[in-house]
Amino acid sequence: MDDAPRVFLETFGCQMNRADSQTAMALLKEAGYQAVDDPLQADLVIYNTCAVRDHAEARVRGRLDGWKNRKRPGQVIAVLGCMAQRLGQDLGDTYPWVDIALGSDHMACLPGAVEAARAGERRLCFDATDDPDAERPAHHEGINAWIPVMRGCDHRCSYCIVPTTRGPERSRDPQTIQREVAAALANGQVQITLLGQTVDAYGRDLQPPSRLADLLRLLHPLPGLRRLRFVTSHPQHVDDDLLHCVRELPKVARHLHIPAQSGSDRILERMARNYSRATYLDLVERARRIIPGVELLSDFIVGFPGESDDDFQATVSLMETVGFDGAFVFMYSPRPGTPAADLEDDVPAAVKRRRCNHLIGLQLAHQQELHQALIDQTLEILIEGPSSGNPSRWQGRSLGNRLVMVPRDLIPAAQPGDLLPVVITAATNLTLLGRPA
Ligand code: SAH
Ligand code: SF4
Ligand code: F3S
Repeated sequence: MDDAPRVFLETFGCQMNRADSQTAMALLKEAGYQAVDDPLQADLVIYNTCAVRDHAEARVRGRLDGWKNRKRPGQVIAVLGCMAQRLGQDLGDTYPWVDIALGSDHMACLPGAVEAARAGERRLCFDATDDPDAERPAHHEGINAWIPVMRGCDHRCSYCIVPTTRGPERSRDPQTIQREVAAALANGQVQITLLGQTVDAYGRDLQPPSRLADLLRLLHPLPGLRRLRFVTSHPQHVDDDLLHCVRELPKVARHLHIPAQSGSDRILERMARNYSRATYLDLVERARRIIPGVELLSDFIVGFPGESDDDFQATVSLMETVGFDGAFVFMYSPRPGTPAADLEDDVPAAVKRRRCNHLIGLQLAHQQELHQALIDQTLEILIEGPSSGNPSRWQGRSLGNRLVMVPRDLIPAAQPGDLLPVVITAATNLTLLGRPA
């Protein structure tokens, strides 16, 4: 094994990219590679990139600039994913020392490209080649498997680069997904997360058409399954049938990631989100009525072109009205080629930052309250593994999405993958601490 070629892989962006990286790693292991943690020691250095905000790209630019004077003869540098897809040939021109650039949906040709690059041939390809229904080799670790159930996105939110980098919506065949999930379960991955940019739109492009609820019902009985999750949902496609399905299937997480983006109708319209504040609030009401205890997670963008103080206050009030269980807040970042990039980016950076901090502050204060109210209550958690911040504790997740830490010495026999009822003993605004019930 010691003379096996070494690969270093760093992943940016969403869970879809993480899943793609696992596929890349599985293919490279089949080709004889071993993974290393130090890029300087690697024969092959891979960045699987994100283009959703400039910040994500700036980090990769920094990594690539760093190789200019450091790359060893024979070392291969590869850039995969959304930033590669967005920049296309320009990436090769800007970074002549990059040997491989592959856009999205190219994983199957990675091993061939690596072989060619090691023989001195540069490979830059951006026309998707992967068959979405091909089975993906699994390289899961621990108890989690992230399984893409669809690729791409057919929405055209005006700020968003994803439809450009990931292409149109293509749902994968339910039987293929079922086989992949069964293989992951047989391998010990008891928590399965189904991935899609608009996962709740799953199946509408299939022949015959299918739905996410059908897929959940198909996968739920598979032996060994403990928890079944799905992300991300677009508010437009969450119908009552899906909500009832989540309530009826006991292993399906009572958790919806339904990004609101803004609370202002004027801004939602300019974002081309296809829903209004009122229909969003109606969805929240339906979700909470049909699924008792459902946890709601949202994304927000602040500083979208033309966002006035009043628009921002509408977002603040949406956040206060709903009381989300979690929220990601992003400062608007213009993406070249998207419709919003033609609008003037007129909210000053300092105002974006202030609005961003304000929403984060509100959210954390709300989480503090929610978490305090959970003290002395019992939650059933699925133990995921040692806590990254404190390995003397296990980290687990509730049937919703709450992170709970439990000191390992209280449960010496416990293992990742176990379900465990815990009583919450202490809380911060981010995590909960518990002991076995
Ligand atoms: N498919 C998912 C999320 C895609 S990107 C969905 O539709 O909800 C993840 C998040 O990044 C988005 O929800 C949005 O909040 C944020 N985002 C996307 N484009 C952005 C941009 N140009 N600037 C800032 N944030 C952005
Ligand atoms: Fe982007 Fe909108 Fe598609 Fe989500 S639904 S990936 S935000 S275009
Ligand atoms: Fe980023 Fe591409 Fe995901 S742009 S958020 S890695 S789909």
